[in-house]
Amino acid sequence: MMDVAGKTAFVTGAASGIGLGIATALAQAGAKVMLCDIEQEALDAAVAALKKSNADVEGVIADVSLKAQLQAAADATIARYGRVHILVNNAGVGGGGGYGEWTDASWDWVIGVNLMSVVWGIEIFGPLIESHGEGGQIVNTASMAGLVAAVAPGYNATKYGVVALSEGLRMALAPRGIGVSVLCPGWVRTRILESERNVPDRYAGLERPLAKDDDPFRAMVETAIKEGVDPLYVGELVCEAIENDWPYIFTDAMFEAGVDMRFAAIKAGFDRIRDRVPRR
Ligand SMILES: NC(=O)c1ccc[n+]([C@@H]2O[C@H](COP(=O)([O-])OP(=O)(O)OC[C@H]3O[C@@H](n4cnc5c(N)ncnc54)[C@H](O)[C@@H]3O)[C@@H](O)[C@H]2O)c1
Repeated sequence: MMDVAGKTAFVTGAASGIGLGIATALAQAGAKVMLCDIEQEALDAAVAALKKSNADVEGVIADVSLKAQLQAAADATIARYGRVHILVNNAGVGGGGGYGEWTDASWDWVIGVNLMSVVWGIEIFGPLIESHGEGGQIVNTASMAGLVAAVAPGYNATKYGVVALSEGLRMALAPRGIGVSVLCPGWVRTRILESERNVPDRYAGLERPLAKDDDPFRAMVETAIKEGVDPLYVGELVCEAIENDWPYIFTDAMFEAGVDMRFAAIKAGFDRIRDRVPRR
């Protein structure tokens, strides 16, 4: 069991929503936290608010979909705190577009922020965590959309990728003293539906990444998010998960039946061919 008090954490997408909830909960539990985000104003406000409670926190700007910027943020963290124990790859965007709407740019954006930043986070911070020999934890934010695919194909594909990465690396990193947890939130009250605010300039022209205003899916998601779980509660769960090395972190059981249905469909696929003799 790891005590987060006194440890150093690096949290991406920490200026808003779930990332801010995680950074706040870690700081309240006595961890030093480097908050990383693409949005300067929101980051400054988050760091200033946390500092008022005497938390040992700092902020660093990075577009995590650019490896060099994530590396620079890691360098700044080591310069400030000396070592890192906890990496939270949380930054993410709701986007990608549906069938008939997606573009190369919308795929590049959602894959870059939601998936490649996690790959690079692990690549950059894994050796830093290993190097001090005190052990640590990596938490990757996926989604329930990483376990049950719904109507946003780009988003789902990246979140399934984050679940797969986390499950595989959990086995590979355990002998190196690093636990890996995957956070699969249900609906959480955040600004995810305003992800367009963070489309980098290089994807100029990328509009309405998730769904159009008149799309019934958007209206349903808007209501679900407005009535969603408190991000600070999610942060507190993540602290508990880090201390106890939970493999999966869920925020409520709303999607459990959907996961059961998916596993039942997979099982039915095996049942269909079980008695056949494969041609070799
Ligand atoms: N809100 C939900 O219901 C929900 C459900 C499942 C999963 N998630 C996941 O939770 C994570 C956090 O999202 P949220 O809901 O808190 O949304 P949010 O929009 O409130 O917060 C996302 C944060 O990520 C930052 N960000 C966006 N692009 C970035 C980039 N390129 N580089 C660095 N930072 C960047 C934003 O500035 C913002 O501070 C995401 O990975 C999201 O997919 C959210």
